[in-house]
Amino acid sequence: MCGIIGYAGSQNPLSVLLAGLRRLEYRGYDSAGIALTRGENDRLFICKNRGKITDLEQKLARSSAPVDARAGIGHTRWATHGEPSEKNAHPHLSQDGRFAIVHNGIIENYADLRQNLSKRGFVFQSDTDSEVIAHLIQACYEGDFKSAVAAAVRNLEGTYGIAVVCSMHPDMIVVARKGSPIVIGVGDGETIIASDASAVIQHTRHAIFLDDGDMACVTCNKVDVASLSNIPVTRELTHIDWDVGRLEKGGYEHFMLKEIHEQPQSLADSIRGRLIIEEGTSKLSGLRMEAADIVRIRRALIAACGTSLYAGIVGKYLFEDIAGIPADAQQAAELRYRNPIIEPETIMLAISQSGETADTLAAVREGIRKGALVLGICNVVGSSIARAAGRGVYLHAGPEIGVASTKAFSSQVAVLAMMALLFGRIRRLSATEGAGIASEIARLPQIAQEILNGEEEIRKTAEKYAGVRDFFFIGRGYLYPAALEGALKLKEISYIHAEGYHAAELKHGPIALLDKDVPVFAAVAASSGRIKTLANMQECRARGAPVIAVATDGDESVAAVADDIIHIPPCPEYLSPIPVVIVEQLFAYYAAKARGCPIDQPRNLAKSVTVE
Ligand code: F6R
Repeated sequence: MCGIIGYAGSQNPLSVLLAGLRRLEYRGYDSAGIALTRGENDRLFICKNRGKITDLEQKLARSSAPVDARAGIGHTRWATHGEPSEKNAHPHLSQDGRFAIVHNGIIENYADLRQNLSKRGFVFQSDTDSEVIAHLIQACYEGDFKSAVAAAVRNLEGTYGIAVVCSMHPDMIVVARKGSPIVIGVGDGETIIASDASAVIQHTRHAIFLDDGDMACVTCNKVDVASLSNIPVTRELTHIDWDVGRLEKGGYEHFMLKEIHEQPQSLADSIRGRLIIEEGTSKLSGLRMEAADIVRIRRALIAACGTSLYAGIVGKYLFEDIAGIPADAQQAAELRYRNPIIEPETIMLAISQSGETADTLAAVREGIRKGALVLGICNVVGSSIARAAGRGVYLHAGPEIGVASTKAFSSQVAVLAMMALLFGRIRRLSATEGAGIASEIARLPQIAQEILNGEEEIRKTAEKYAGVRDFFFIGRGYLYPAALEGALKLKEISYIHAEGYHAAELKHGPIALLDKDVPVFAAVAASSGRIKTLANMQECRARGAPVIAVATDGDESVAAVADDIIHIPPCPEYLSPIPVVIVEQLFAYYAAKARGCPIDQPRNLAKSVTVE
């Protein structure tokens, strides 16, 4: 949830930390802080603040931050324990002031630890779960910095990615992880640590991803990775091939708009090299499954949250229709706690853009425990879910920075369609049927581009409805999850209350809410339930509700039942969630913009939900 950064090297650590924190601000942004080391045994310099990085920068400008700092750590926070405030902001200092820590995750036994430490005379300054770590390190210190961190961390229950500096070792940062990511960028005479590779690649493309249970002792020219019992561990140096330019807003006002516009490219990247049209199939080598394994699959269980869950519901339909595999998509928290039934030959698909969502990760672990073959569908390479699953398919959609997920959704559906094609081709599709589906998937970048070409029409419609308080989104079949996603997008960035419903479900209660002030957004494109959805739209209008239709180009029949129509190019029903959701993304974006909302950082949200 929070962002962590650390630097040891020849540049001014303060500027590197601030640049890194700005990059990480999307992860959490209610408060921020930094700690710098100076000469040996000099007091650590700490500056922290409630608010955004710009507030921290202003405070730093009024302070006497050392210009000769040797190393430092920084943090941007999304509150879990204790309100956003200066005292709860990280870094947290040990009582003797010699250790400063930043933490991402949740310490579940912090209350017990706090009580024990208090009995031993430690006085707490904050309401956080994290502060116990700083005092514990002091309590465990017997002359060796790294051993003190290891000993402290062995007492922690819960999740953590931590970085620690010590006034007695001003050139060193010690990091450790369990459940929250730590990436170590290995540069030329400099080392940068972060909770996220996006903060590392400004400096170097060579990185080490720590595993759970790892810790590392880092200086400007050395990285020693070890287990918590101090046994050296070798972690391979990975090359990160994401482009720095792609991390900037690229001329768009918001990351969200940039990422919506990237979809022709991100879809092409997700599909590239994976379709074999002439054989009517796809090649997804990360699955590491032989034809014999695929033939044996009896059931697919899909675990995900939020937008990824809605992509998962599309995946359920794709698996059943194309591959003939019974499938179920479940909210990951529900799945993990409901003692899921995993029969032999059940595969579990964990879908996650970030690859760090706590509930999805826990569902993966539960699936593995129960013997399911677990496949990760993640965007972030080396993320916790990808590594826990051990096999799967990366989206290759590029970094998604806007808090609202956009391009990840279209890439998730594209990847699920390619998986369904591969499985279907082995189990029941002819080469001709497979080739038809493969050719349709190959058209997705072009379809996305055509939606973007019609952006102006969508902007005007969104602005027309931006003043309303409540909205309904409806759809059937493949467009039912699209309705759920449309409502989610609108509510999270424009703060307009929106509900996504199956079109048939309206009559079972929600229709009572409809009147002239409650518009209905109805997707009717090429769906098998098209005629029935048209009838439902008619019912909405009869209650005075304005109806906005998303319909296929040339579909004349919607004009009679809609007040506004947004056109999408023809495409098969099983891929129609992609164009419809891109329309909904733009609709939500322009409605939020018209309302003056902070689109890339909506209130109360964080990009990566690493707590339950
Ligand atoms: C909505 C959104 C969230 C995420 C959800 C899962 O726009 O971004 O609903 O989809 O938190 O995140 P990932 O896909 O990273 O597991």
